[in-house]
Amino acid sequence: MKLPRHAFFGGRVVPYAEAKVGVLTHALNYGTGVFAGLRGYWNTEEEELFLFRPSDHFQRFLESAKLLGMELAFTGEDLVSAALELLRTEAYREDCYLRPLAFYADEAIGVRLHGLTPQVSIVAFPYGQYLPDEEAVHATISSWRRVDDNMIPARGKIVGSYVNSALAKTDAQRSGFDEAIVLNADGHVCEGSAENLFLVRNGAVVTPPVTDNILEGITRRTAIELLADGLKLDVVERPIDRTEIYLASEAFFTGTGVQVAAITRVDHRPIGTGTIGPVARDLRRLYFDTVRGKRPEYRKWCWPVYAGERDLASPASPGGGGEKPHLRVAR
Ligand SMILES: Cc1ncc(COP(=O)(O)O)c(C=O)c1O
Repeated sequence: MKLPRHAFFGGRVVPYAEAKVGVLTHALNYGTGVFAGLRGYWNTEEEELFLFRPSDHFQRFLESAKLLGMELAFTGEDLVSAALELLRTEAYREDCYLRPLAFYADEAIGVRLHGLTPQVSIVAFPYGQYLPDEEAVHATISSWRRVDDNMIPARGKIVGSYVNSALAKTDAQRSGFDEAIVLNADGHVCEGSAENLFLVRNGAVVTPPVTDNILEGITRRTAIELLADGLKLDVVERPIDRTEIYLASEAFFTGTGVQVAAITRVDHRPIGTGTIGPVARDLRRLYFDTVRGKRPEYRKWCWPVYAGERDLASPASPGGGGEKPHLRVAR
């Protein structure tokens, strides 16, 4: 991967090479950090980069930090502003990915969460697909179980808990699958290693509830709204048994990385016809139009990166939006 040229670090945008930590850093030793992952989508016709749902991503980022008792020096608005400033500095004219990180930065030994000082960084880099074929994913049910709310809170994006995801993902890929589906400690279907999961069963779209140790995905929330309001489908949040996957007519993952990806086989069993189904296909079409700012009714989620700089008074948003695109960062 080509390294970015800049990072938001120490409250300002600096050359990437200056965003460094020591090997004793608490988060590096004990996993005491939280992170987020956002995408920016380039819209060729408008020559604009749209950052997708940044206020929601940073809200969850702050909630994850709260779970670790972190008191950050930034509000959600500050962080959105920092992300926009970073993107303008990088001047990307292509799809990209942002990685905000808040971590206990003390160079100190001792497992704990108190008496430590958090630091925030954000980097952004060009990015394409996360999975090789988003229309034909072959997944496996992992033998690893998802972390539990009473182990490491699963609803937070906590650095240390991603060892759980990494164990599942590596086993799946080494066995020839594209992705893992992880069950929770109860044996119910939870999610992928880095994505939420939906099934289509008996005409309804079902997905596990937030109390089943899923990460509370922003794309999951987007998909629920697009499915219900855009595609007029019934969406039900309920626990899902493993064997319901085998009987589903469709299955798909959602996530910032994976976007919307059809799961067409699980452990060599075809899901439905074994090819992408109509719900996943329609949702993918609507999702990609939405994230690129092409759907006025969902333009509220798309924050123009360069319009905010060109003309603060009029964000490039035919659909309105109402969210302020450009805010100053507290230093
Ligand atoms: C474990 C896990 N579940 C689900 C998701 C999807 O979340 P989001 O849609 O907010 O990217 C992610 C992605 O970051 C993840 O890491």
